[in-house]
Amino acid sequence: WEEERLKTASLSFGAKKEREQGMKQEQEKYQLILEEDEMIDFVSSAITMKGTLSEKVGSTGFFLFVSCFSFCFPTLSQAELKKQSMQEVRRSLPIFPYREDLLAAIHEHQILVIEGETGSGKTTQIPQYLTASCPGTRNIGCTQPRRVAAMSVAARVAQEMSVKLGNEVGYSIRFEDCTSERTVLKYMTDGMLLREFLTEPDLASYSVVIIDEAHERTLHTDILFGLIKDIARFRPDLKVLVASATLDTERFSCFFDEAPVFRIPGRRFPVDIYYTKAPEADYLEACVVSVLQIHITQSPGDILVFLTGQEEIEACCEMLQERCRRLGSKIAELVVLPIYANLPSDMQAKIFSPTPPGARKVVVATNIAETSLTIDGIIYVIDPGFCKQKSYNARTGMESLIVTPCSRASANQRAGRAGRVAAGKCFRLYTAWAFKHEMEETTVPEIQRTNLGNVVLLLKSLGINDLIHFDFMDPPPHETLVLALEQLYALGALNHLGELTKLGRRMAELPVDPMLSKMILASEQYKCSEEVLTIAAMLSVNNSIFYRPKDKVVHADNARMNFVVPGGDHLVLLNVYTQSGYSTQWCYENFIQFRSMRRARDVRDQLEGLMDRIEVEVVSSQGDSVPIRKAVTAGYFYHTARLSKGGYKTVKHQQTVYIHPNSSLFEEQPRWLIYHELVFTTKEFMRQVIEIESGWLLEVAPHYYKSKELEDSSNKKMPRKQGKTKEELG
Ligand code: CDP
Ligand code: MG
Repeated sequence: WEEERLKTASLSFGAKKEREQGMKQEQEKYQLILEEDEMIDFVSSAITMKGTLSEKVGSTGFFLFVSCFSFCFPTLSQAELKKQSMQEVRRSLPIFPYREDLLAAIHEHQILVIEGETGSGKTTQIPQYLTASCPGTRNIGCTQPRRVAAMSVAARVAQEMSVKLGNEVGYSIRFEDCTSERTVLKYMTDGMLLREFLTEPDLASYSVVIIDEAHERTLHTDILFGLIKDIARFRPDLKVLVASATLDTERFSCFFDEAPVFRIPGRRFPVDIYYTKAPEADYLEACVVSVLQIHITQSPGDILVFLTGQEEIEACCEMLQERCRRLGSKIAELVVLPIYANLPSDMQAKIFSPTPPGARKVVVATNIAETSLTIDGIIYVIDPGFCKQKSYNARTGMESLIVTPCSRASANQRAGRAGRVAAGKCFRLYTAWAFKHEMEETTVPEIQRTNLGNVVLLLKSLGINDLIHFDFMDPPPHETLVLALEQLYALGALNHLGELTKLGRRMAELPVDPMLSKMILASEQYKCSEEVLTIAAMLSVNNSIFYRPKDKVVHADNARMNFVVPGGDHLVLLNVYTQSGYSTQWCYENFIQFRSMRRARDVRDQLEGLMDRIEVEVVSSQGDSVPIRKAVTAGYFYHTARLSKGGYKTVKHQQTVYIHPNSSLFEEQPRWLIYHELVFTTKEFMRQVIEIESGWLLEVAPHYYKSKELEDSSNKKMPRKQGKTKEELG
């Protein structure tokens, strides 16, 4: 049915006359609909629009063409031209007319809340205004909730200031520091600034701190609010700017003792919003069809699609490319570009490059493009209405990433992306009813739906002992806080009075989660730090090691099988790392993602560099997997599951979980295992699992496990796929 529709669409694209007639009809229908304020089902009927955009888009197009040209041929005059045009863009931003007023307000108030529509220039311009107006100041730090945003914004600002990235302007994200002695303007993730409190509790090297994208309310941003409000009291010279999209600014002002709000008047063109008549069964497919329909029937302007994560985005891009190939020269060129956090930076940069004349760009993004990144030229937005959200069960301590409907506030931000350069359209792949009744008003702040172990450890290391009375903008649920304290106690990071232990202090030195930290520290005792560091690095690159293209699934799976070693996924990852050469060729042949491997190497180098600080000697277990698995157990004993009828049950909470089909232990189903993380897709899957012996639990966490709960009462009833475990044999 979809195919049929596409064919019709492409045919009508060829037959101009027919198409014009069709357009006329559609236009009438469209107007009628507008009059009646009725929602249209655009997925099943190609819509056309009034052609009023070409002028505006045309001029942007011209400008972008100029900058593209100069980029390709950087002769002196061209470079000048590029610089000039960039300065023109800067002057055209909504924030520009308010430059002096803004600087005056910053001068006058210590804490200022700045509110402005996304794309108005807050992130890129305010720091530049500050450096230009008071040269010789100390550092300006600007936090971003996302890595990608920190990197791309720093690159953009370096370009605008004509400096090399990493010199005057730099960025700092976990495991990657692109700054130098010369750096005055530093973009960084909120998590990195938080870690800087460990080395510099009063942030003495900063004269201005900008907490940007405050409306995102990430866990780290929320903690920064409390800490920065505190240090601002005894550092009157520190300027604090809280920048936010047009959401919630009154609350920020209220939290910061009635700090004034500086509003940058928005400049937004109207955006027409369309809903589907019925819910979409397959929103990915609906996205693809919608993109092609817009491409074929609508006037120029780029498209932005919001999906929930890398896998979906890659699938969508592949589907789009495949269908475009099939339609061939019948349609104009469609430039398909993905953007998500793990995308390598050279690929990320592509979304900002101008669309070639005559072509149309479609950017398929996670909600990073909601407010953190602004892509010029977007006229159409496709919003399936979902996002991936962390959720946390404070009773069981389980964290999972779940695809959930986004909030109305998010949906409205997404729609707003269509109206930056001209009037735009937003196609919502859900019903108007769902928008009104099934979506939450706003997104729940992350602090209320995540594990707090990491943050509690950090606050404890900063000497903040009374967490119940910490100045939270929205306090986390009491149980979550208590559970975090309990877990840290079980890991040995806190003593029974809730004070930081020596082990806890060392754990906090590593920029990783407490469990991973503990695993690394435990490797010292088990004399396998060499291997455990590698495993930690491989685990932190996010399941993107193995490459599994759709058309070569069998080859990819075979290649993966070659790496399988007994014991579990952690050891498989170790094996991949040990075998891998530095060559792209090797990675290609073995279906390994070269970039992920490179990143794993970087992460490993950084971690190894920190081993001196925490006094861990790097030694190898010489091929014995038992110490390695014991070290993993020492960090992750919370994540123990035991084989039971039809699946696994977690030891402490008896929750049913399953081994992920991609796991090397999927067939084997050992009796006891430890999982690295839990993801909920069709059911609760354990990702990255390792086989253990139950006795080890008593060895690594005697205060947490009692031998009674590790007894196998169901021994005889259980169907066994495999012979005896090592435990039984030994
Ligand atoms: O922070 P806010 O959303 O207010 O805006 P911004 O990120 O400072 O963006 C201002 C302008 O800079 C936008 O119109 C973007 O077109 C441009 N920009 C860019 O071209 N490349 C980037 N990496 C970031 C921003
Ligand atoms: Mg911004």
